[in-house]
Amino acid sequence: MGETSTHGDVRTSRRAFVVGGLGAAAGVAAGGLAGAVSVADAANGDLSSGDAAILRFLSALEILETDLWQQYNELGGIQDREVPGGSGNPAYTAALAVLDSDMAQYIHDNTEDEHSHFTFLNAYLRAHGAQGVNLDRFRTLPSSKATGAQQIGRLTNLMELTVDTSWWTRYRSGHGNPDLGDTFPQAVPDLAKGKFPAIPRSDADLAPKKHLQAIANTAGFHFAFIEQGGTSLYPSLAQRVQDPEALRVLLSIGPTETMHFQTWQDKAGNAPPLTDPTNGLTFPDLNAPPFGGQIFQTNLIMPEPTAFLSRKFPAVSIIRPTHTQGAAMGAARALTADGLFRGQSADFFATLHHLARQADAAGS
Ligand SMILES: [Fe+2]
Ligand SMILES: [Fe+2]
Repeated sequence: MGETSTHGDVRTSRRAFVVGGLGAAAGVAAGGLAGAVSVADAANGDLSSGDAAILRFLSALEILETDLWQQYNELGGIQDREVPGGSGNPAYTAALAVLDSDMAQYIHDNTEDEHSHFTFLNAYLRAHGAQGVNLDRFRTLPSSKATGAQQIGRLTNLMELTVDTSWWTRYRSGHGNPDLGDTFPQAVPDLAKGKFPAIPRSDADLAPKKHLQAIANTAGFHFAFIEQGGTSLYPSLAQRVQDPEALRVLLSIGPTETMHFQTWQDKAGNAPPLTDPTNGLTFPDLNAPPFGGQIFQTNLIMPEPTAFLSRKFPAVSIIRPTHTQGAAMGAARALTADGLFRGQSADFFATLHHLARQADAAGS
């Protein structure tokens, strides 16, 4: 791709900018550095405007991720000093444990990781004299009324999700790649069509048993949907980062999203087949016809080698997709289609889209 050589040139010129390193940059664009920074870049300190925009978009998404994981942790995780807030919902926690007895620990740890991601990204931006991200003014969505949840404003809505479960078949396909225009069937077709809670909305959702299990199953598939998104987003945006250290930040955080995804993919495969008697939501047996086979089989959790860049190359085990053009807006759209922002204000979407556009303009 033609862009790659451009990046090489820009990266060289960027080195001159970061000679002072983190310590000097913390003093914010002092002396000669300020003179070298264009007016348009002043708000970004010694980061290029493109790198700052990419880091800022990632920080925003990590804040949103933290908000949703926090809600899961309050009801179904472990509430402690590392991840405070909420007091747990024993029935929901037990339904999640059907997928794996360690679910509460994993939810806790994923929540802690996301919190560390945005906290680091904001600190890194500020240390370089650039603006961090704060979305507190958008904490307007209601909390679950179920026992265990804090009653505070939220950024995300886990009670009306439309979960795309095609990541399941995408990573099991031995020939398809979304970057080459391929599409993939849903593992749980119902989840991709309706609006379903992934947390109990109130204690009324704690029964009947199959209804609560369907909510826990929905969460199980949603966990992996979220984390496969981060798994693709970091390598997609890394291709347009200029500064080597900023690139290191993306390359060091991104694979932790993949570690989450791999774990959740394994757990989602343990979601018991069932139909929710209250709304008909069905989780199929993914190991039996008309499902089953390589594309659905639940223990095939390693990425199947597939086509990459061109079908002329041999199949290779890869993250997919990783195309960089429009990757930030693509992530914003995917999370919106997921229903995470149902009830959010026009101002929220304008802010999210602005951050995505800025990130997608980086390096071009
Ligand atoms: Fe993250
Ligand atoms: Fe994540």
